[in-house]
Amino acid sequence: MQAPRSDPSTRPLDVDAVLADPAIRIVVCCGAGGVGKTTTAAALALRAAEEHGRRTVVLTIDPARRLAQALGLTELDNTPRQVKGTHVDSGELQAMMLDMKRTFDEVVLAHTDPKKAEEIFANPFYQAMSSTFSGTQEYMAMEKLGQLRARDEWDLIVVDTPPSRSALDFLDAPARLSRFLDGRMLRLLLAPARAGGRSVFNLVSASFGLFSRTVTKILGTQLLSDLSGFVAALDSMFGGFRERAEQTYRVLQARETAFLVVAVPEPDAIREAAYFAGRLAAERMPLAGLLLNRVTTVAAPGLAAAEARAALAELERLGGHEMTADVLRVHADLIELRTRQEQVAQRFLQAHPGVPVATVPTQPADVHDLDGLRAIGISFG
Ligand SMILES: Nc1ncnc2c1ncn2[C@@H]1O[C@H](COP(=O)(O)OP(=O)(O)OP(=O)(O)O)[C@@H](O)[C@H]1O
Ligand SMILES: [Mg+2]
Repeated sequence: MQAPRSDPSTRPLDVDAVLADPAIRIVVCCGAGGVGKTTTAAALALRAAEEHGRRTVVLTIDPARRLAQALGLTELDNTPRQVKGTHVDSGELQAMMLDMKRTFDEVVLAHTDPKKAEEIFANPFYQAMSSTFSGTQEYMAMEKLGQLRARDEWDLIVVDTPPSRSALDFLDAPARLSRFLDGRMLRLLLAPARAGGRSVFNLVSASFGLFSRTVTKILGTQLLSDLSGFVAALDSMFGGFRERAEQTYRVLQARETAFLVVAVPEPDAIREAAYFAGRLAAERMPLAGLLLNRVTTVAAPGLAAAEARAALAELERLGGHEMTADVLRVHADLIELRTRQEQVAQRFLQAHPGVPVATVPTQPADVHDLDGLRAIGISFG
């Protein structure tokens, strides 16, 4: 595995060592939108099962349809299923796709009697909240991770994270949502005020911009009128919501967890990765390293762009040869692109010196089957 070569201080990340380490029970792939979190999570899990004989489960979130099919995820049933077509010896690979609404329903059912659960399920506010995307998906991903870990049936759980705009949402949203669901703040705000019978919510919402922004962020603008019924139904059961989130948080801080920050060598993704790594440090969560995905590979890295361009000029002076000239030109372009990618990646290391880096080459086509995932896995070794 090659790390960016322009800085001799770059430490290579040995991904295989992470996957093979029996003390590591959870690997979390995070990063900005579209950088390859789902793909690398699936590739890591396949590699752990096939090469390291680990009983592995991968929790995917919104995988592309063809990748989901390759993993045997044709229905959204919220439970891990054996992946067919793997070459496993002692290991095993299971996969699942997060069903956010169903996970939320499971939490409700686990904490209340069936009658009360029905009431909650029928509430339009609950329906909106359990199927809306902002915040709930991140929370339910954590909830599902907590459930899988508690079952203790796998050596390794590989977790993909939701396609949030910001990687930080994965860590922020659960706390925000559980504070919200905890209900103390809501009850206070909804309680009829002594004067005039108007709710405190009405009185303060105008000045309490932060609260209404949070509500709007989680729910959109709709359904505030169903809120009080929802809070009444939740009353006792969601007291423990925050506690559950905090429990999973503690698992994420434990030595058994390894975060891999995924990025592509582009400024926005690298900036996001650097923020995220900073946040992990602040939360005392273990960062294993940076997975730099979609790095351009160069067939003859020893031939500098300037040398190729000089040879090109000389070739043209001698009368040229079209195909040779094209090869030299493409080579020079690729070397320059690769150099720019290394420079961008260095910005991450400037912010977080010493964090190990692994690179994953750009594949010739989209990754949508087990062979494609294996090809990615080769760069982990
Ligand atoms: N190394 C690679 N080479 C070629 N294609 C890749 C590579 N990594 C990922 N892709 C492709 O890039 C696309 C986005 O990848 P993926 O869905 O894994 O990203 P993501 O971070 O999970 O996105 P989102 O934030 O939307 O969840 C997919 O079509 C995938 O096949
Ligand atoms: Mg994804």
